Amino acid sequence: MEHHDADRLASRRRRLLVTGAGGQLGQALVGAFSSDEVVALDHGDWDVALPPPRLPRLELVLHAAAWTDVDGAETDPQHAAAVNVGGVTHAASLGAPLVVFSTDYVFDGRKREPYVESDTPDPLSVYGRSKLHGEAAAGEDAWIVRSSWLFGPTGHNFVRTMLALAVERDEVSVVDDQRGCPTYVGHLAHGVRELVDADRPRGVWHVAAGGDCTWAEFAEAVFAEAGVDCAVRRVTTAELGRPAPRPAYSVLRSERPGAPELPHWRVGLKECLARLG
Ligand SMILES: NC(=O)c1ccc[n+]([C@@H]2O[C@H](COP(=O)([O-])OP(=O)(O)OC[C@H]3O[C@@H](n4cnc5c(N)ncnc54)[C@H](OP(=O)(O)O)[C@@H]3O)[C@@H](O)[C@H]2O)c1
Repeated sequence: MEHHDADRLASRRRRLLVTGAGGQLGQALVGAFSSDEVVALDHGDWDVALPPPRLPRLELVLHAAAWTDVDGAETDPQHAAAVNVGGVTHAASLGAPLVVFSTDYVFDGRKREPYVESDTPDPLSVYGRSKLHGEAAAGEDAWIVRSSWLFGPTGHNFVRTMLALAVERDEVSVVDDQRGCPTYVGHLAHGVRELVDADRPRGVWHVAAGGDCTWAEFAEAVFAEAGVDCAVRRVTTAELGRPAPRPAYSVLRSERPGAPELPHWRVGLKECLARLG
């Protein structure tokens, strides 16, 4: 598509669907696409493991609904697949151009330099496998946006968990042997808008925050930025003993021309904390 055609499309009010609209990314997408006519469905409106309800004609589907309980998926793989694979199939069946969201957890983390789109996935966990199968279910007319370590002012995420723990404790134990890109959902949602508005080619896109860190470094930044007095004890993944294995290194970068470039994770953290008030 020529640039001016893409511009015209982007400036027009489109009717689009956001699934998982109650989740942290879903809420950010509803905000980033507010100049469009947004049909926002949360879990109660449509269980995406089931076929879609009757909907008006859509020009775009932003599929943010997912099973995101990484440890819980280990003991309930069928349910996780019903949501993360079946849900994508159902979203694709709506017949509109589709954005699906995937994860750095499709990689095994053995690399020591950033993962790009052409790297071969090899997920370690049930969740990672379900997301990879979901990518395959997205079909030809889909942008598959892989991002990582999402956080925002609402929902379950690391920043909110750390701030809640700091209210009751002087010290928290955080793993220091997993490295990735903590990505602010507001920045990701605008990156998605850029991708769609510019009508970039379909397929896999890595869209994650600039910079990288370990979870322990991220926790220290959260406390420093929020002015909270809480120490971070650096521990290993083995010490923490979570049910699902996670990649030790999962920094995502794009090798594709025209990929959205997101701000550094520290900028995202500042914006998130400002919204938390
Ligand atoms: N969080 C991360 O660190 C991360 C990293 C990389 C990629 N991603 C991907 O990014 C996307 C958005 O994640 P997020 O962080 O925004 O997750 P989230 O906050 O957990 O939001 C997911 C939403 O999906 C809903 N949902 C769960 N099961 C559903 C079902 N069967 N039918 C309909 N809705 C359902 C949840 O509703 P309930 O809470 O009511 O169940 C929730 O509102 C997902 O595809 C996720 O895999 C996330």
